[in-house]
Amino acid sequence: MPQRVVLITGAARGLGAVIARRFHEAGYRVALADIAVDDAAALARTLSPDGGTAFALRLDVTSKADFEAARDALIGRWGAVDVLVNNAGASKVVPLMEITAEQFDQVIDVNLRSVLFACQVFGQHFASTGGGRIVNIASLAGQNGGSATGAHYAAAKGGTITLTKVFARDLAQHGVTVNAISPGPLDLPIVHESVPADRLEKVIAGIPVGRLGSASYIADVAVLLASAQAYFANGACWDVNGGLFMR
Ligand SMILES: NC(=O)c1ccc[n+]([C@@H]2O[C@H](COP(=O)([O-])OP(=O)(O)OC[C@H]3O[C@@H](n4cnc5c(N)ncnc54)[C@H](O)[C@@H]3O)[C@@H](O)[C@H]2O)c1
Repeated sequence: MPQRVVLITGAARGLGAVIARRFHEAGYRVALADIAVDDAAALARTLSPDGGTAFALRLDVTSKADFEAARDALIGRWGAVDVLVNNAGASKVVPLMEITAEQFDQVIDVNLRSVLFACQVFGQHFASTGGGRIVNIASLAGQNGGSATGAHYAAAKGGTITLTKVFARDLAQHGVTVNAISPGPLDLPIVHESVPADRLEKVIAGIPVGRLGSASYIADVAVLLASAQAYFANGACWDVNGGLFMR
């Protein structure tokens, strides 16, 4: 049986890089998509020096045409795509009452409109082949109204969870599942870079399990949701937040 193929956005660093490594370990051929294509390419080379099982491609998630080009590149290179992980995200924290139209649109474009485009392009492709898996990386901020990362980011992630359900409902009849994973604060570079150490200590003290989350566990969940046996998990939001938010 040919090795399954996964496309991961925002795979140059952080959570996306961890997810890319984990899918590769699980036996997938991995396309690492990012605007930071040099970093993605460096990681791809460490996974697969000859490019046989990993390669990088430049993809800006705000561009639908980039998703179409990525789909075509993967079909051209490996003949198929089986799984899409919408992981790329970005935010710049701005006080709630000061968010401008431009800042709002920009954060919505990267974090939410990207998910719409990706699910349109890959959802249609997966439906035409009779199956596929889409995993969207949401965030606790989108569930609990937390604005530490910006209200525009929280709104976008709430929207990601809703789009996950809409696409899940629409695509299920074609053998395609769509799920979200919603992490709380993870032990990742961006968290240490963007939160001052004294504030981070307070954040950690407020997490019921008393620790930041593990990115590799999020990657495990993504691999689990991508498996062929995962057909009954659909339209779900998988909370991994240390007990910060319980339904
Ligand atoms: N770090 C956390 O604690 C945390 C918690 C909850 C959710 N998340 C989510 O996890 C995902 C990954 O976050 P991270 O912590 O690894 O962040 P990060 O900033 O370290 O990595 C994000 C990656 O996305 C890429 N990217 C940014 N804009 C892009 C664009 N327009 N097109 C393509 N790629 C782009 C960046 O180049 C980078 O490689 C995001 O969706 C984020 O919202 C993270």
